[in-house]
This record gives sequence, structure tokens and C-alpha cells, in this order.
Amino acid sequence: MMDYEGYEVEFETRAERRRKARTQSRPKRKEVDVRTELVERSDSSEFGFQPSYKSSHHDHGEMQWIISALSGFYADKLIDDVLRAVKGGKEASVYVCAAHPSTGVEFIAAKIYRPRIFRSLKNDAMYREGRSIIGEEGKTIKARDKRVQRAVHHMTRFGQELRIGSWIGHEYETLRLLYEAGVDIPKPYAQGGNAIMMEYLGDDQSAAPTLNHLALEPDEAQPLFDRVMRNIEIMLAQHRIHADLSAYNILYWDGEIKIIDFPQAVDPRINPHAPSLLARDVERVCQYFSRYGVKADARLLASDLWMHYMRGEL
Ligand SMILES: Nc1ncnc2c1ncn2[C@@H]1O[C@H](COP(=O)(O)OP(=O)(O)OP(=O)(O)O)[C@@H](O)[C@H]1O
Ligand SMILES: [Mg+2]
Repeated sequence: MMDYEGYEVEFETRAERRRKARTQSRPKRKEVDVRTELVERSDSSEFGFQPSYKSSHHDHGEMQWIISALSGFYADKLIDDVLRAVKGGKEASVYVCAAHPSTGVEFIAAKIYRPRIFRSLKNDAMYREGRSIIGEEGKTIKARDKRVQRAVHHMTRFGQELRIGSWIGHEYETLRLLYEAGVDIPKPYAQGGNAIMMEYLGDDQSAAPTLNHLALEPDEAQPLFDRVMRNIEIMLAQHRIHADLSAYNILYWDGEIKIIDFPQAVDPRINPHAPSLLARDVERVCQYFSRYGVKADARLLASDLWMHYMRGEL
């Protein structure tokens, strides 16, 4: 287990230490909560959880990482086992889990963020603008907790832990909001620590392909394009822009599409880059479908959407 006490000392200023010595005050409640959450997250190999999945490289580190990220969901009777890796990306890996019988489904997908996300988080300023820090289970960490804010700003290790938690908490909250609104996304089940548990698209042989990996039938293209555009509109009505939408983040299964991968989603009410992020999403979708002969003016579609959104007409 990591020593989180060390992190505290790392970003404690001299003035704070003096004040503490004078007042002998107990740590603020929020700080205690945050520390407890972080320690809980790094617990590993509990509850007798022994996944049958074997890392292809017999990578002990990967197995420990999976066990530590998913044993809580095993204890909570959401999953019984980890079966296969779907894909290891730059920021996260997705695994197929055998669902617990009480869920009523056969499989559940687990998206586990890797620690190296720290590197790319340095470039997330544009997406984070105006966003508050979200802890586990969507609890917002108060902006007035200056020490937490400063830690995040300076990218101390404690701050990095908070940022990664914030990123994942934000993705999960977005998934819940959009699923409720009827957007075509995998059903979100739970979030904790580095993992998001959601509906698995695919079967026992293979996971659903992303749009860029398949050839659509000529008569499928237009209805699927309309469907993606309708999804963008419903998301916007919920004050959300995906902000990394492309054929790489749209799954295709049973003739239908599901949009995935929401950590960078933005709220146009507070993010000043919203119009250009929306335009880029629409542009990429139009570009992909144009190879199937779907004719659409991306700029016009994006500006129409934005105009209706601004007028409160969506
Ligand atoms: N619910 C799901 N069911 C089946 N497969 C999924 C699911 N969610 C994600 N995947 C697969 O895992 C891959 C990575 O997921 P996602 O796009 O959310 O993460 P990422 O961090 O963006 O990874 P990458 O950098 O590879 O895009 C997807 O491209 C898709 O193939
Ligand atoms: Mg992706």
C-alpha cells in the first residue's frame, strides 16, 4: 500500500504547518475523506478474487492491477470473473467480465484506467475548463479546499491521484446522465477507484467492433448517420458535447451503434471551446459517413445545432 501521509507533507506549506502547530486543529473532514478513498482504492487482492484471465505476457503487474481495480465489484456481486482483455489503449484497458447471476446479464465490460494517464492529463486543460473536481461516486470536492486545488494545480502526486479520480468520476457521471436521457451508450453499472463497469457489447467470441473497423452495407449508412446526429443533439440538450467523437469511439453491434469513451466530454454552459469541439465532432462523423455516399454539410449541421441549442430549442 502506498504511503499517502507522505503526499500530505509534500504539499503542505510552511505557513500551514505553523498554523497547525498553533491551533492543533484536526484535519478537515474533506481531507480525511479524500485520503480514505485513495487508500481504499489501492487495496488489492481481497475477498478471494482470483480471475481466470491470464495476462498474455504473464504480466504479474497487470494481474495485480486488475485485481486491485476489480475486487470491490467482485465483493459487491457485480462480477464473478475476468475473462478476456478487449483492448489495451493508451489511457485505459477494457476487459470482459463474467457478470454475477443477480445482474441478469452474461457479461460486463470493465474499463480500467492505467496510472500512465498522468502524462496525458497534463494536456487536459481545455476539457477541464470550468469543471469542478469530482471525487468517487460523483462527490464534488469543494473549490474552497485550497490545499486540494493547489495540489491539483501543481501536479503533486497527491494532486495526480485526485485528477485521475476526477476524470473517471466525470466520465461515469456523464454516462449516467446520457443513458438516462436515452443516448445510445452502454448502460453504466458502477464506478469505483480506477474502474468503470458498463454493459458489454459483443458476444463470448469477440467484442463489438468500432465503426472504423468494419464495412457498412450501403443501405445502413444513412440511417446510422442520422442516428449518430440525433445522439449528438440529445447530448447537447443535456448540455454535453462528446469532444472526441469519431468512428473510433462508436461501437457497432446488431445493426445498432453505441457511443463510448466520455472522459473528455464538456458542458457547453461553462466551456468556452464548446462550439469548436462540437464542430469537430460533427465534422469527423460526416467525414466517416461520406465514404458511404452520405451527403452532409458538417459546418452547416454544427452551426444549426449550436443555434438551436443557444435558443433553447433542443
Ligand atoms: N462497453 C464496451 N463493450 C465492448 N467493447 C468496449 C466497450 N467499451 C470499450 N470497448 C472497447 O475498448 C476500446 C477502448 O475503450 P475506450 O475507447 O473507452 O477507451 P480509450 O481509453 O479511448 O482507449 P483507446 O485509446 O484505445 O481509444 C474501444 O475502442 C472498444 O474496442
Ligand atoms: Mg477510445
